[in-house]
Amino acid sequence: MIETTTAASLTTSGLTRRFGAFTAVNNVNINVKEGEIRAVIGPNGAGKTTLFNLMTGHIHPSAGEVRMGNHVISGRRAHEVAQMGVTRAFQTTNIFPSMTVHENVVTALLGFSRRTVRFWTRPGEQVEKRADEVLDLVGLYEHRNHKAGILAHGDQRALELAIALAPSPKILLLDEPTAGMSPYETQKSVDLLRKIWRELKLTIILSEHDMDVVFGMAQQITVLVGGSVLAEGEPSAVRSNPEVISAYLGGVDE
Ligand SMILES: Nc1ncnc2c1ncn2[C@@H]1O[C@H](COP(=O)(O)OP(=O)(O)OP(=O)(O)O)[C@@H](O)[C@H]1O
Ligand SMILES: [Mg+2]
Repeated sequence: MIETTTAASLTTSGLTRRFGAFTAVNNVNINVKEGEIRAVIGPNGAGKTTLFNLMTGHIHPSAGEVRMGNHVISGRRAHEVAQMGVTRAFQTTNIFPSMTVHENVVTALLGFSRRTVRFWTRPGEQVEKRADEVLDLVGLYEHRNHKAGILAHGDQRALELAIALAPSPKILLLDEPTAGMSPYETQKSVDLLRKIWRELKLTIILSEHDMDVVFGMAQQITVLVGGSVLAEGEPSAVRSNPEVISAYLGGVDE
């Protein structure tokens, strides 16, 4: 079959991760469709970041599996999962402050390519061009020669996004994309993420505590509590679910 989309589905089956006697992610079954925007919400310690780490190969399951389309991706290492098409922007800032914005993207792409193209020797024109393309996409082109360390927090997060988008992922994971942002930066960031989703048509999975962001972006929401899925569905159904309200939404400022 000819692939008509650049997105891919992501499915977890019986996904479980224990740390010693503690179960952080407990028998999670999620099916995110191609091109969907899915939010994973839940209280602090619910297991959202652990779930993302399992989806990207940064940690491996104690039981169950993760599939991208028909391919099992759990058990593979993070760089292999990234090459297969799942990338992420980290919850904490993950850039080199003394390098320029452009160098940050080029360096990340080279690290990525070195593992794909065995005998890569020096930055190719394609890498430079791709870096500029994604910087333009996230609105950082004019900052390309500035040191990343002097960027505003919101722009640093946009740079992380550019790095995650540079290898053309099918699935993008965002762990608290607006954490620590001002209301203005948050709105800019939501607009940017919507634009990226529209233009690239990729699958986006995000975790987020800001309910305006969640309800403004997500098409489907999964509520995680104590490592297990408490509820799942369209935003309107999740918002009015009494169990969700008492376990989480009741305590979140909307
Ligand atoms: N490497 C680890 N070793 C032991 N326990 C861990 C480890 N990583 C996570 N945990 C525990 O697993 C639980 C889930 O943590 P996780 O970071 O996934 O939650 P979260 O939903 O992302 O929370 P937050 O909203 O605060 O980001 C927590 O109780 C945490 O202490
Ligand atoms: Mg987290």
